[in-house]
Amino acid sequence: MFKPHLNANEEGHLVIGGVSAVDLAERFGTPLYVMDEQRIRENYQRFYQAFSKRWDNARVWYAYKANSNMAICKLLWDEGCGAEVSSICELKIALKIGVPGEDIIFNGNYKTVPELELAIKNGALINVDNLQELKVINDLSEKIGKEARIGFRVNPDVKAPTHPHIATGLRESKFGFDVESGKALEAYQIASEMERVKVEAIHSHIGSQILDPKPFGEQAEKMMNLVAQIRDEVGVEIGIVDMGGGLGIPYKPDEEALSPDDMAEETTSTMKKIIQEKDLSKPTLVLEPGRSIVADAGMLLGRVGYTKEREKTTDWVAIDAGMNALIRPVLYDAYHHILAANKMNEKTSETYNVAGPLCESGDYLGKERKLPKVERGDLLAVLDVGAYGLAMSSQHTAQPRPAMVLVNSGDVEIVRRREECKDLTRLDKVPEWLE
Ligand code: LLP
Repeated sequence: MFKPHLNANEEGHLVIGGVSAVDLAERFGTPLYVMDEQRIRENYQRFYQAFSKRWDNARVWYAYKANSNMAICKLLWDEGCGAEVSSICELKIALKIGVPGEDIIFNGNYKTVPELELAIKNGALINVDNLQELKVINDLSEKIGKEARIGFRVNPDVKAPTHPHIATGLRESKFGFDVESGKALEAYQIASEMERVKVEAIHSHIGSQILDPKPFGEQAEKMMNLVAQIRDEVGVEIGIVDMGGGLGIPYKPDEEALSPDDMAEETTSTMKKIIQEKDLSKPTLVLEPGRSIVADAGMLLGRVGYTKEREKTTDWVAIDAGMNALIRPVLYDAYHHILAANKMNEKTSETYNVAGPLCESGDYLGKERKLPKVERGDLLAVLDVGAYGLAMSSQHTAQPRPAMVLVNSGDVEIVRRREECKDLTRLDKVPEWLE
């Protein structure tokens, strides 16, 4: 098996976290998200250790947008992992599970007044995206009577080899202050003259699903050079350097992983070099990984309903999990490996397109997939869906969202119940004149 935390039992059933996928599907129904607790903890530790053994004050703040289920966020906080949030609900989740403000970082290019107020009141670090936001923050701090801790999201113009929808560090992207034109430096100058903000950090995030270490080195170099310039020209020492997330995972069996160690080596060796060259003091290094912590810990189970043979083109198999449950394949042309969870011992002799149940041609989970011969009642497992899977799901075609279970060494607990039809109409209202 190309995923070390997955295996098959004697009956040829796929096993995750010590539990058979076939049993999970029978017990909890399908479509079903399954998350492996041990794998998440290991992924976090591997990532954290990679940085902390190279940098004495390294901090890892999990990007909640990847999967903000409270159980997942809580177990990561148990490991000592803080929170990177980008909406008021993510912020409230972090606070609810007990993450203190000082371990929360708030990002985003459009932060509302209630979001900023809550962040300031709780002492979260806010990475400011533009000068208008800076002014709003300064005014709010005045009103609340509490200094706001801020950094700036800067745009280092680094090309990350990834899907254009998830590359964020290019000059034309909507995020942050441009470094090269001097806009980023100017922002630090303006903030340093403000009464109510405390400038602590610098932040950038160059994109997601990156499997080449070089862009991380380029990012580190541009960031640290700017840190030196801010000290020299503005007179502000930056204590926190936040490099965002971005580490990818191998989705395809033949794809090569980039290890957290290789990413950390590239980032920290570049930072150390510039610290020495420019005689800088060593900042706290913050990372905000999402995908690399939770993606491979999750699978989506779907029951085969129907198969369709085609002449001169690929046969279809339809499962009950569609683009509403996992939109990545059609949105990013993303590959998720698919296994026949109840036929792990059988040869993958057939080729299928795997469809969901929605009325759209984009409703597929994989094209041209090698699988054993499948029939009604079989169970398919779509791998590596722990990040941006359920988090980006929808109720398109009034499909209730799937349930999610957490497995750990043979134990199972439901961590999000399956939606029902009544959940879909709970917020709707038919006006009186239509009664
Ligand atoms: N920090 C910031 C400011 C971010 O915008 C992101 C992700 C992260 C951290 C975490 O990045 P990661 O380690 O997960 O690469 N929906 C897309 C991914 C969008 C990522 C957006 N930002 C997908 O399904 O591939």
